[in-house]
Amino acid sequence: MMPIEIQARAITKSFGSHVVLRGVDLTIRSGEIVCIVGASGSGKTVLLDTLIGLLRPDSGQILAADHNGPPDATGHPPLKDLATVDPRELDMIRLHWAVVFQRNALFSGSVRDNLSLWLKEHTTLGEEEIVERARRSLQAVALDPDVVLDQDRDALSGGMAKRVAIARAIACDPLVMFYDEPTTGLDPMVGSAIHDLIWKTHSTPPPTSDEGFVFRDLGFVRPARTPGARRTTIIVTHDRDLLRRLAPRVIMLHRSGVCFDGRYENFGKSDCPPAQDYLRFMPVLHERAPL
Ligand SMILES: Nc1ncnc2c1ncn2[C@@H]1O[C@H](COP(=O)(O)OP(=O)(O)O)[C@@H](O)[C@H]1O
Ligand SMILES: [Mg+2]
Repeated sequence: MMPIEIQARAITKSFGSHVVLRGVDLTIRSGEIVCIVGASGSGKTVLLDTLIGLLRPDSGQILAADHNGPPDATGHPPLKDLATVDPRELDMIRLHWAVVFQRNALFSGSVRDNLSLWLKEHTTLGEEEIVERARRSLQAVALDPDVVLDQDRDALSGGMAKRVAIARAIACDPLVMFYDEPTTGLDPMVGSAIHDLIWKTHSTPPPTSDEGFVFRDLGFVRPARTPGARRTTIIVTHDRDLLRRLAPRVIMLHRSGVCFDGRYENFGKSDCPPAQDYLRFMPVLHERAPL
């Protein structure tokens, strides 16, 4: 079995008297692709924000693989409790993550600034390599770098901002990708390009230090990946075409808990009521669509 990448243990989270998550357990292993689904307001974003340590659960723990130190006795990256690591250690764990937020979270400035700042701060990549990366990432989300690179964030349409946010995450070449509603608000053609990009990014092994990807502040050398190693991808989504395209592990939230957790192919056999609603709209569960 692959090592654990991130794990939620009995997570509970409320806002006032509204219990959003009640005793949620979740284990995501390295190389998995997981979609978190559920009705609007069911707690998908709250769960994602809790997994990445932006929200503190009221009770329960989040454990995440620490890729920066030596492996533990089992040969796997040690798991760290996000509530007990110091802020610097948390930053170091997060160096291997990239997040596409539901509201994009682009910072003020140009698209170029948004795509290059993290790489400048955290890697030893040179200026030219960074611009080259930025350009390639924009092309991957079907944006023309010559047009977009020097546009200001505030000049972007909603759909463009979403694509820039995805490009920024991809440019960081992380071990773990988190996406919150990556295709919401995009037209179907662009949406389908994003589906392909998510799959391609997931299935392409991240670069190693031998390939020049060295973190500045760690003196850290990213370990060589085993051949064929995949990244870990966690996606909050409403997009049925995305589910069909990826045929992922599906986690459905309902009434503050997980009402289905299993392979996409078995989602249709779930007796969880909202899963049945979903399936009325997509009666045929295909194998993963061919590339
Ligand atoms: N910061 C907050 N303060 C109060 N309520 C919140 C906050 N964040 C989320 N909620 C509530 O938690 C519930 C789940 O929200 P969310 O996770 O954003 O849903 P979704 O599944 O659509 O992503 C909603 O009822 C929302 O109003
Ligand atoms: Mg949400």
